[in-house]
Amino acid sequence: MEDAPRHLPVLLAEVLELLAVKPGGSWVDGTLGLGGHAEAVLERSSPDGRLLGLDRDPAALALARTRLARFGDRLRTEHADFRALPELLKHDAPDGILLDLGVSSMQLDDPTRGFSFRADGPIDMRLDPTRGEPASELVNRLNEFDLADLIYRFGEEHRSRRIARAIVSARPLNSTTALAEVVRRAAGRPRRGIDNATLTFQALRIATNGELDELGATLEQLAHRLAPGGRLAVIAFHSLEDRVVKHTFRALAARGFSLLTRKPVVASAEEERANPRARSAKLRVLRRDPAMDALGEAA
Ligand SMILES: C[S@@+](CC[C@H](N)C(=O)[O-])C[C@H]1O[C@@H](n2cnc3c(N)ncnc32)[C@H](O)[C@@H]1O
Repeated sequence: MEDAPRHLPVLLAEVLELLAVKPGGSWVDGTLGLGGHAEAVLERSSPDGRLLGLDRDPAALALARTRLARFGDRLRTEHADFRALPELLKHDAPDGILLDLGVSSMQLDDPTRGFSFRADGPIDMRLDPTRGEPASELVNRLNEFDLADLIYRFGEEHRSRRIARAIVSARPLNSTTALAEVVRRAAGRPRRGIDNATLTFQALRIATNGELDELGATLEQLAHRLAPGGRLAVIAFHSLEDRVVKHTFRALAARGFSLLTRKPVVASAEEERANPRARSAKLRVLRRDPAMDALGEAA
């Protein structure tokens, strides 16, 4: 695996502990990525634990399959969005489900995918490049008002109007670095030490992939599909996503589920140093209590 892209799984020890991974059982990784978390779950659930791994990105799936080949038929993979999980599970009731949301460092670091403003590439940003339209369509097609709305809603970027105006007058824009330059010039002085293009790129990525669509509803369905005592763990990387997770888990906790993380679990200073991606990670975990069925909570 020397040449394989590096992607350190975030909050790995915490995920394994809070998911209570043990020998045997049925596990799901809805965002397989490069298979870092999945590998640890498969190791801990030896000798016969099974894992279903999903990813929207065929390139990530191919790498994960190679990495995890030694687990043989204990691993099943599907090229799918985790929002399809409730159907894919059929009658299976998993002991643990993990969603490690967002993009992997492999996707970020590949200029041809268009996620990063640090390297020049097409403005694509699709997690699944086999379907949907690239972010360049939004950049070059939306009117100024809709573009500003998108940047404000999904980037929480207060300078969205200025940025949208600048993008519209610089169109057509076809490369990530050209787009980033236009955004930086329009935004003025950087705030909080982050690159001025960050929030606009985040907004375009979320919109391109519909990342927040049905997230709350999917989490709720998945929680109800867990085995009694089963756990759902979600790692979010930006506040919009984390807010949905927090509110959905709180609502479920009021209906008999147990919230195992009153506050989100975050990375230690040591992990942050080793893996800068971990800085913004927030892990929340919910448990379906065995007593719930007896109390009549709908399965
Ligand atoms: C942060 S990475 C996961 C890394 C993984 N936990 C590991 O240890 O290697 C997120 C992955 O989730 C995938 N992804 C994001 N949203 C998805 C969705 N809605 N359905 C399926 N996969 C998704 C991305 O393509 C990416 O490969």
